Amino acid sequence: MATKVIVNLPDEAPYAVRIGEGIIADLGRNLRDIPRFARTADVLVVTDSNVAPLYLAAVRESLAAAGFKAADAVVPAGEETKSVEVAAELWSALAQLAFGRDCLVVALGGGVVGDLAGFVAATYMRGVPVVQVPTTLLAMVDSSVGGKTAVNLPEGKNLAGVFYQPSFVCADTATLATLPDREWRCGCAEVAKSAAIDSDDFFFWLCEHAPQLAARDSQVAAEAIKRCVVFKADVVARDKTESAGVRECLNFGHTLGHAIEAAAGYGTYSHGAAVAEGMRFALALNDGADASPEFAEALGRLLDTLQLPVLEWRAPADRLLEAMRCDKKNRGGDVRFVLADDVGRWHVEAIGEERLRESLEAW
Ligand code: NAD
Ligand code: GLY
Repeated sequence: MATKVIVNLPDEAPYAVRIGEGIIADLGRNLRDIPRFARTADVLVVTDSNVAPLYLAAVRESLAAAGFKAADAVVPAGEETKSVEVAAELWSALAQLAFGRDCLVVALGGGVVGDLAGFVAATYMRGVPVVQVPTTLLAMVDSSVGGKTAVNLPEGKNLAGVFYQPSFVCADTATLATLPDREWRCGCAEVAKSAAIDSDDFFFWLCEHAPQLAARDSQVAAEAIKRCVVFKADVVARDKTESAGVRECLNFGHTLGHAIEAAAGYGTYSHGAAVAEGMRFALALNDGADASPEFAEALGRLLDTLQLPVLEWRAPADRLLEAMRCDKKNRGGDVRFVLADDVGRWHVEAIGEERLRESLEAW
């Protein structure tokens, strides 16, 4: 049984996020039911070298059965692929196929493929539609929804990008069966983040079901994905471009997390492991009167249960500070952190260099 969540954003066409087991088989038919794709012919499926042998044929078959003419572009798996150079190869591939503004880009894969293909679609001929077919837990619970697209620059992650909403999201939970454990835990970190920021209902449900989620129980995973998508759709509806002081909450754990990824070298730690450590650091950094020690303890325990232990790795404070200076949340010279006070309560705080250095040295 598939679940459908509608993402309704100001000044955008609403789009559906469909979540269910085996639903890639319906992809072509689902797209034909969307009026803007009633007459679409040309589709470029962008995927990576790990996902292509697993799911590209099923996607192509579903598209062909609905009368689409699909070409594909397989990019190397890994964060390094989220680059201007690979984006340029994909723009050229679209141009060489002579695809016009009436084409469609399908992003089949994890957050790397989703962010990259979304960026390419947003910019090719000033914008052609993109459909997200996420195949990692992280992409299903977070990156495929909400329209953040980007590539990395040598100076930092996601520094060149645009907000560009997908026209449809097809989260086929059957694809999660082949996901390596490390990537599963990566998605679990974003689930924990969403639950902590969302509500008592989600957070305490997750605390109760964390052992099953860690053990990859498919029903619990499907429920977690649905809850994350509902939460994210609501946040993005209130602050589509992260300019109204709401969407920033989704960056909880990401300030140090992104710095760890950059300082350790992309791929050394998964995005999720780095974000989990970033959440622990942000909890320790929060010495405000509103900060609940019980919440900090409960979130730490939740991360342990989700097999996201404290990282052994440490780097010099200077190296991490340098990486944090490129964070997109920064204003002026200070580094801005999302600090969670309690379940569903958070604020953003600019942390001066001296305090941040001391905290990093004590970390
Ligand atoms: P990823 O896309 O690199 O996928 C992780 C690994 O799993 C890759 O090796 C991939 O080939 C493989 N894989 C994917 N699906 C598979 C499957 N079903 N079976 C087997 N292997 C599979 O990483 P990710 O964690 O999905 O995404 C991380 C990226 O997402 C980062 O670049 C991050 O910045 C970005 N992100 C974006 C947003 C957003 O809102 N746009 C949010 C969070 C993260
Ligand atoms: N993943 C952060 C955001 O979508 O804003």
